[in-house]
Amino acid sequence: QMAEGLLVLEDDLVKTLLPQRSSHSHKGTYGKALMIGGSKEMHGAVTMAAKAALRSGIGTLTLFVPDCITLLLASKLEESMIIGAASEDGFFAHDAITALKRILSQYDMIIIGNGMGRNEAGKELVRTVLESDRPCILDGDALYETGKITAALQRPYPTILTPHVKEMSYLSGHSIKDIQQDPIAVLKEFLRKYPFSTVALKDAHTIIANSQQMYLNLAGNHALAKGGSGDVLCGILAGLFGQSKDALTSAACAVYVHALTADLLLQDEDANSILPNDLIASLSETYQILR
Ligand code: APR
Ligand code: MG
Repeated sequence: QMAEGLLVLEDDLVKTLLPQRSSHSHKGTYGKALMIGGSKEMHGAVTMAAKAALRSGIGTLTLFVPDCITLLLASKLEESMIIGAASEDGFFAHDAITALKRILSQYDMIIIGNGMGRNEAGKELVRTVLESDRPCILDGDALYETGKITAALQRPYPTILTPHVKEMSYLSGHSIKDIQQDPIAVLKEFLRKYPFSTVALKDAHTIIANSQQMYLNLAGNHALAKGGSGDVLCGILAGLFGQSKDALTSAACAVYVHALTADLLLQDEDANSILPNDLIASLSETYQILR
């Protein structure tokens, strides 16, 4: 259903919202990002998020991953720096928290959650990020844990959350059924509680909102209904937020760019065979269309 003040994302609108690059710029202009995530079982998630950020204009990207996957990622990601933190059984170990605390303030923005898994150390990493003053993007497993440490979400700094409906259920305490019935009411309640946050509530149609404004994305298709497409979205968002520093417009643009890329691919390819990595490879065409 359509509510008052809900702007539908379209090419012309997104063109006006996308960050512009300037000739008098350098890598520092476009954001120094730290991306925290990955595990032995889910290294692909953080790899794809990183690749999508690198193809979406981020200035510099440093990965912070469990040290058991450092070499694996290094062989796939030549443009990013990689910090290997303490690991245990393929996931972050407790010592990673002190390591993160030492370096956090060096970055303009933090992305956390992709492929991280759901152990105690991961949860404390999320808390560490939320208790800092750094702008941040929470995705995937960071949202699951955040549902239990919602007090930390009261932070007065830009905080972007990208839950699918089940993750929104963890965050809000509402059932999946209630969220699907009235997503706008659930979002409004959440944003009253956490007025500095921006939420992209992901589904076949995605709503992007902060306490001031809401956008609705109707683009995209079922080729996106595959594990890993959410991680690509998170990376696109990181790249755009690094450039614009504006949480709401970068989230709206990222959702639309992601969806439009899938729509463009579907013109020439079958939905069965379109993979998240194909989205990343096609981002350049989408950005050209939206210039
Ligand atoms: N039409 C349009 N867009 C869609 C559709 C569809 N039918 N289905 C999915 N999408 C889009 C969503 O809007 C969102 O942007 O694809 C993306 C999927 O993101 P996620 O749900 O976060 O999926 P992802 O993280 O890639 O993989 C699933 O989430 O449930 C957890 O732990 C589980 O690791 C798993 C992960
Ligand atoms: Mg996800």
